[in-house]
Amino acid sequence: MSSATTTELRRNAPGTDIEVVLDAGTIAARVAELGAEITAAFPEGELLVLGLLKGSFIFLADLVRAIDRPLHLDFLTVSSYGNDRTSSGTVRLLHDPATPLEGRHVVLVDDIIETGRTLTELMNLLGARRPRSLSVCALLDKNLMATPPNELRWVGFNAPPEFLVGYGLDHAEDHRHLPYIGKLTDA
Ligand code: IMP
Ligand code: MG
Repeated sequence: MSSATTTELRRNAPGTDIEVVLDAGTIAARVAELGAEITAAFPEGELLVLGLLKGSFIFLADLVRAIDRPLHLDFLTVSSYGNDRTSSGTVRLLHDPATPLEGRHVVLVDDIIETGRTLTELMNLLGARRPRSLSVCALLDKNLMATPPNELRWVGFNAPPEFLVGYGLDHAEDHRHLPYIGKLTDA
């Protein structure tokens, strides 16, 4: 099936068209590489993988199946900035992982980094819980951060400066279920 057909079949808002940026096969190959790198990156023992909801849910599900070592999994949800993206209030946890972080190797899985504000504030918040180590694996990075935090250890792809949807990423909660990553265009 061509990607154009796929796009048409799965498009759910009239007047919306989606151009494929990363197809499912390209994503799968990169996720396998990231899984292998994470598998090899830590000493023996267990990892704690924390998925940042909702955007990371598909990436997370694929990534953990590519990590060949013992691990525990938990989730967190942070408050969104809503319309007020200039407010520099602290990130608030809407769902706080029940699993203690202290003394553990923690890998935070994120969907996409834009300004990096969410990530930077989360690093402070989670770092204060004294994990043994804290690292981040983000599927996409728009490369807008002047100085990315040291914790950002794995990035799947550099993202174009467009608004992307699919493979977990949404626009107003639509399009998360697309098996590929695309950009919204006007039909
Ligand atoms: P940041 O704090 O500016 O880095 O914002 C990151 C968050 O904004 C991501 O976790 C997404 O929820 C959202 N976001 C940023 N860019 C995009 C995009 O292109 N598509 C969908 N969501 C995005
Ligand atoms: Mg997000």
